[in-house]
Amino acid sequence: MNTKNIALIGPGRVGRAMARLLPSAGYEIAAFGGRDPARLREAIRTLNPPPEICTITEATSRADLVLLTVRDDAIEEIARQGAFRRGAIVLHLSGALGSNILQPAKEHYGCFIASMHPLQTFATVEQAVLSLPGSFCFIEGDEPAAQAAERIAEALGMIPRRILSEHKTTYHTAAVLACSGLTALLHAAEQTAQAAGIARDDFWTAFSPLMQATFRNVRALGAAAALTGPAKRGDTKTIHAHLDALASHPDLQKLYRLLSDHAARINEETSSHGKESNE
Ligand SMILES: NC(=O)c1ccc[n+]([C@@H]2O[C@H](COP(=O)([O-])OP(=O)(O)OC[C@H]3O[C@@H](n4cnc5c(N)ncnc54)[C@H](OP(=O)(O)O)[C@@H]3O)[C@@H](O)[C@H]2O)c1
Repeated sequence: MNTKNIALIGPGRVGRAMARLLPSAGYEIAAFGGRDPARLREAIRTLNPPPEICTITEATSRADLVLLTVRDDAIEEIARQGAFRRGAIVLHLSGALGSNILQPAKEHYGCFIASMHPLQTFATVEQAVLSLPGSFCFIEGDEPAAQAAERIAEALGMIPRRILSEHKTTYHTAAVLACSGLTALLHAAEQTAQAAGIARDDFWTAFSPLMQATFRNVRALGAAAALTGPAKRGDTKTIHAHLDALASHPDLQKLYRLLSDHAARINEETSSHGKESNE
């Protein structure tokens, strides 16, 4: 079995980043499969040497190691319809799904299945190529496939970690809160600052030291000790004034209320723990 030879399926952001990184990590891309030849041609345009492009079914049979970088909803369909080599290793990169979604490939072709999720955001291919080294990669599945995934992660400079299959969806929920949740929150802060006449560039210049100190404090002290602001002080009049200020932005107002309630709960839990330990 040659696990240095990879069939890559799905020329999206993750697939294109993998196509850029794998060859310099000692892997050969035996085939790059996808449903749209034009997308595939565009994906390989700057690769040297360019891998062979083909249909998804062809790609599943081209290597002993198949890496699925398609969107989550398409993974099971490919595991059902692919023509895999007997005993091949099949990996997907979804954070939310376990390796069991690949079960059809195991049942029909005796494949070894695993999932490997790079805990990183692929906003653009260029950014992802730079950010992946040093990022963690969470892996679960059949042992030979999980070990192959660990080798790929290490070759790409990532730090492999095992995770229980039953924890994947919850783990990924945390990742989404930390990444797209944070993005949405930053966007809300940016919009609110704009309502106060602060332009986007000024927002980032003026608010970055505050955001960076918050990030450092939460990490070093924990959320309860790092918490400041009206929810911490119990300044309900200030909270109501903030809600009034957002009256013409009902979505932002709703978000502010949720976050403020959550901050108050963190504060209450800490105070009640403090009381218990003093008793
Ligand atoms: N984006 C991230 O930050 C990130 C991080 C870690 C892991 N992941 C995981 O990586 C995987 C790919 O995500 P992505 O961000 O690269 O998504 P993406 O940029 O939207 O690309 C998705 C790819 O899936 C293909 N696809 C969609 N539906 C299909 C179908 N029915 N049959 C065959 N192919 C289909 C698309 O094909 P076309 O090219 O023809 O449109 C495209 O190549 C997902 O499992 C995701 O959970 C993503």
